[in-house]
Amino acid sequence: MIFRDLIKSSVVALGVTNSVLEVASSTSSSGDSRATVPNDLTLGVKQVPNILNDTAVDANQEAKGYTLVNVTSTPRGLTGILELKEATNIYGYDFDHLNLTVTYQSDKRLNVHIEPTNLTDVYILPEDLVVKPTIEGDVNSFNFEDSDLVFQYHSDDFSFEVVRASTGEVLFSTDGNPLVFSNQFIQFNTTLPKGYAISGLGESIHGSLSLPGTVKTLFANDVGDPIDGNIYGVHPVYYDQRYNSNTTHGVYWRTSAIQEVIFEEQSLTWRALSGVIDLYFFSGPDPKDVIQQYVSEIGLPAFQPYWALGYHQCRWGYREIEDLEDVVTNFKNFNIPLETIWSDIDYMDSYKDFTNDPHRYPTDKYQDFLDKLHKNNQHYVPIFDAAIYVPNPNNETDNDYTPFHAGNESDIFLKNPDGSLYIGAVWPGYTAFPDFLANNTQDWWNEMFKEWHDRIPFDGIWSDMNEVSSFCVGSCGTGRYFENPADPPFLVGGEVTQYPSGFNVSNSTEWKSISSSIAATATTSKPSPSSSSASIDSMNTLLPGKGNINYPPYAINHAQGDHDLATHAVSPNATHADGTVEYDIHNLYGFLQEKAIHAALLEIFPNKRPFIIARSTFSGAGHYMGHWGGDNNADYDMMYFSIPQAFSMGLSGIPFFGVDVCGFNGNSDAELCSRWMQLGSFFPFYRNHNVLGAISQEPYVWSSVADATRTSMAIRYLLLPYYYTLLHESHVTGLPILRSLSWQFPYEKKYNGIDNQLFVGDALIVTPVLEPGVNKTKGVFPGAGVSEVYYDWYTHEKQDFRNGKNETLAAPLGHIPLHVRGGHILPLQEPGYTVAESRENPFALLVALDNEGNASGKLYLDDGESLEIEESLYVDFVAHSKSLTASSFGEYNVSQPLANITILGVEKKPKQVEFEDSKVKFSYENSTIFVTGLEKYTKEGAFAKQFTLTW
Ligand code: GLC
Repeated sequence: MIFRDLIKSSVVALGVTNSVLEVASSTSSSGDSRATVPNDLTLGVKQVPNILNDTAVDANQEAKGYTLVNVTSTPRGLTGILELKEATNIYGYDFDHLNLTVTYQSDKRLNVHIEPTNLTDVYILPEDLVVKPTIEGDVNSFNFEDSDLVFQYHSDDFSFEVVRASTGEVLFSTDGNPLVFSNQFIQFNTTLPKGYAISGLGESIHGSLSLPGTVKTLFANDVGDPIDGNIYGVHPVYYDQRYNSNTTHGVYWRTSAIQEVIFEEQSLTWRALSGVIDLYFFSGPDPKDVIQQYVSEIGLPAFQPYWALGYHQCRWGYREIEDLEDVVTNFKNFNIPLETIWSDIDYMDSYKDFTNDPHRYPTDKYQDFLDKLHKNNQHYVPIFDAAIYVPNPNNETDNDYTPFHAGNESDIFLKNPDGSLYIGAVWPGYTAFPDFLANNTQDWWNEMFKEWHDRIPFDGIWSDMNEVSSFCVGSCGTGRYFENPADPPFLVGGEVTQYPSGFNVSNSTEWKSISSSIAATATTSKPSPSSSSASIDSMNTLLPGKGNINYPPYAINHAQGDHDLATHAVSPNATHADGTVEYDIHNLYGFLQEKAIHAALLEIFPNKRPFIIARSTFSGAGHYMGHWGGDNNADYDMMYFSIPQAFSMGLSGIPFFGVDVCGFNGNSDAELCSRWMQLGSFFPFYRNHNVLGAISQEPYVWSSVADATRTSMAIRYLLLPYYYTLLHESHVTGLPILRSLSWQFPYEKKYNGIDNQLFVGDALIVTPVLEPGVNKTKGVFPGAGVSEVYYDWYTHEKQDFRNGKNETLAAPLGHIPLHVRGGHILPLQEPGYTVAESRENPFALLVALDNEGNASGKLYLDDGESLEIEESLYVDFVAHSKSLTASSFGEYNVSQPLANITILGVEKKPKQVEFEDSKVKFSYENSTIFVTGLEKYTKEGAFAKQFTLTW
């Protein structure tokens, strides 16, 4: 182990909060001789964000706008020319002529497109990078009366409105504010109703945008989850829920540009630093309609393999292959289901992609381990970082590092503007970055992945650092890669002294001894956000053409200390093979990389659904991958934020989402981990992950957590057919799996912004405990006692809740309140240790009747892994008038029988229960019928035939 006492500014930026440094370079095959990337290379030029600068010019006040001329009708809309009234060149040089094209793409989708007449130096986002919604039906004709959206305009002082035809409501209006369109600054403004309810514009860990004063910065950022700050992904879409008319619409700006959106009392201002205006309005009218309309245009969510729904265990710090073996064994010994074990960068040789450490992860042992794992129907997912190590020419062993040498020969890395290699710095030291616009990248990539998989047969990929992150500013490795390998310029690992709130109470004895050590480390100097001293006056000047791309005249409120765009990221002037600069497509790096990984996995596993969990996302990324929430903290606030973050990813088309359960940064404790393992078990992606140096937090570490975990995992695994049906539904419709109360009950404003409860599909509502030291929690149950009925999952009892009133629920540690909503039928399957084992077990049904004694539900099944699905099974369940019918369609057959059916909400004990024409065994308690022993009637498979059960 090497100990260094460097404390660097990037620590905060990275979210690594350890205060004592222990560089994790014990992995280095070159022993203690590693260099360190110097701290001064991490310092950007301090920028004053425009929104924080009191003296900044307000473009709405100063700009003079455009006049619309030459308006011409087209079969699907209109075109016109916008003439600049007077150049004001506030944050860029104004374009004097713009082309306006309005297209009614369908009766629910309207496109407003504005671009400069002269497109020299203007970035146009290609359709092969990001899907472009197109006209539905005949391009040459449209019945405008069918459209629920109407475009209106004013020619002088150009402004436009989008009006909902059915209500006459103005959904979007730029009236009163000038359009600004310059080479580095585009701005428009829309009015909003008072008390608006808006969501979207992720990625952010806080979903609601309904607070005037909120600013959303859209710039992909490697940062440890700052509340409201810009984090890993970019989704330029918002949803506007209007309670006066009970309608919701969506607005998507198809742009990869750096953006900022400012919410004021009754307006929204949207700014972008390049590109063109390409706006899509979706008419809804329900929130779920808008989500489906948007997501089906950007790319329907990937269909994850069935095994993805099992439990995933990860941590940074499984130092040797033996650690992985121990964890897998421990899970088994503690009888806690484990589907997939993950590796962080520990497995790599000096953190180099496509390698494994010959001493700690020797290939033969690694292969034996994976062989056993696979034989037990378990899976393995290693991390993969975006950057590729640049070999040190003086280091003989580096000659063998094919990924770089082959890539460099094929000319597939990002360049500096002068054509030399762009070299940043990530975990292994100085690194190059694959350019996914270069011609040969995919071939090289496929080859590297294939060679890696031949050696280490992984089952999926965890794609990290793809914002794309770089620890230094600019091409800092130019002239320095001779020092490789090099340690990062900040602290990694070391003693972690943070504990969750409430730890001092729940663990007072332990806390006493820990707190003295914390007091000692607190004296260690803290990193201060520093930056180089260049003055901003010399930096953010206007430039013609593409402009001042490293230091744009408009500075966004980027959540890195100095707000420099190149801090902790590849610099905006890094250049792609076709001349595109990162400035224009920084937000797409992760997305393009994920598409490339997806294609590579398809080569390795032909016709199998690729399993990818990635960090940086963009509109449409959900078509290729799932996502985890990044570097959260082991604390209650972050557990709570996981819920709005999940909602926001759901409406961004990424339903397969989860966060680092029990918390990434900081130490977890038994209470937090117990609560979180239970809450996490309801997220589609369920993974526990932890930072290097923190105490272990696998669920078996504390017996209370092990118990709580077994309890909620038993529920999750029982619900696997329900979850899989939801996965499929989201894959074919775009609907999220986790749903907010405001989408489920869109007509009552009081449910807007509720983010301490979540619906799983339409049938289950989870009300978790999100604070320490309590044994109850509160939640609301819309419609209870009026139109809705809720049953306690555990007791089956119908709840006496009051419509929309806060209810207090008992929630001792180890218990997570879960309710079933009447009117729904859930398919279940007896849990096994793995997903494969569970799929061999008998099925069951849970029927929760509504007030009228009705319920419905569905089941979807297939082989769980094929991309092109040849055989599917669809089952529809309908219960009414004391009878339940299951009708199946499709060719996929399940051989497992149906074991039992539970019916909630049956007021009177029935005299008899019949399955088809046979009387069957049942018991009755708490208004619930339990029918058991159905196996003998369903030997050919639970759903081989249509059946009816009557009571
Ligand atoms: C990043 C990832 C985190 C991972 C770490 C080391 O911070 O977000 O999950 O553990 O890198 O690879």
